[in-house]
Amino acid sequence: MRYAERIGRLPPYLFAELDRKVEEKRRQGVDIISFGVGDPDIPTPEHIVRAACEAAKNPENHRYPSYEGKLTYRQAVAERFRSDFGVELDPEREVIALIGSKEGVHNIHFAFVDPGDVVLCPCPAYPVYRTGTLFAGGVPEVLPLKEERRFLPELWEVPEEKLKRARMLWLNYPNNPTAAVAELDFYREVVEFATEYGLIVCSDEAYASMAFDGYRVRSFLEAEGAMDVGIVINSLSKTYSMTGWRIAYACGNAEVIEGLKKVKTNVDSGASGIIQDAAIAALRGPQECVQEAVREYQRRRDVMVEGLRRLGFRVEKPKATFYLWVPVPGGNSIAFAERLLEAGVVVTPGVGFGEHGEGYVRLALTQPVERIREALERMEELGVRG
Ligand SMILES: Cc1ncc(COP(=O)(O)O)c(C=O)c1O
Repeated sequence: MRYAERIGRLPPYLFAELDRKVEEKRRQGVDIISFGVGDPDIPTPEHIVRAACEAAKNPENHRYPSYEGKLTYRQAVAERFRSDFGVELDPEREVIALIGSKEGVHNIHFAFVDPGDVVLCPCPAYPVYRTGTLFAGGVPEVLPLKEERRFLPELWEVPEEKLKRARMLWLNYPNNPTAAVAELDFYREVVEFATEYGLIVCSDEAYASMAFDGYRVRSFLEAEGAMDVGIVINSLSKTYSMTGWRIAYACGNAEVIEGLKKVKTNVDSGASGIIQDAAIAALRGPQECVQEAVREYQRRRDVMVEGLRRLGFRVEKPKATFYLWVPVPGGNSIAFAERLLEAGVVVTPGVGFGEHGEGYVRLALTQPVERIREALERMEELGVRG
């Protein structure tokens, strides 16, 4: 079968051999403890599930939804954004519903990227910035995220000839996979940079609610002038343990939102009304469930970080996200992940997030504390050292 050329342009899948070994272990009956996938193990809060059950009985929700999302959903997003970040949004022009943020991240390239246009993509990163660029015929320009720069990109080091052809800049803080955070001074610099080079900024803030030790996450849209140059993409997936429901939103610059809507009108038929009603219950309802989940992830973070340090790993306690980004002995992330698999422990090799992720593995704290303790014991028994 001949695939379209754009499929051939996608980065190679690096984990086929590792996946095969995990499968083989499972078949052998090994009890696998997986820190591999960023998918909350905590169930969706009861009141959200109840709202969905009620919404399913409403015949209005049985018909095609609107492309941009219900106005009530967009209003609920604007209210939450005001309360979380102090940013005012016009729900009619500055907010659009997404069927999960992955969809928005992918589709936005089709509104603004012509073949040959450059998109500035951080690395390591959630892979969809790069693959979305490639699907649209764009050229990803890698912005390395380095530990010595607290995993923030050196914007002004991008070559001038690349900047001339650049259309978009991707940001993602709190960051997957490095767990790094960005402060307002960085976002102010981004606004200045984007204004100078005429770039659209897309700030993926899927982990904005997962902050520890009282740390307050800032949104890109809090920076003065941000609304003129870009948007935020955010999701209910991680905040309310709703990855399976597929509901998110983009908000910010009205023209950028309009561009995304033009694409989506031709690709999908909107997020289900049932799911939007559940999402309204999540956004407008009590937020204790979010705090409770955050406390649980913080406990897990502490147990895992302290355990890894005892094994000799150099690992910091992140301020946000449910990820740990751990430097590996020897620097070969796939080899290290294969070694941990001997103990039935699954982690994600950093190189899967791009070439600048090599030398690290990512652990998602999606296992309860007892399982984390067990994984650490198994690592010790195996003689794993940092
Ligand atoms: C940085 C980042 N953005 C977006 C997503 C996609 O989330 P969803 O499509 O569930 O909203 C993920 C998922 O892991 C992510 O890590």
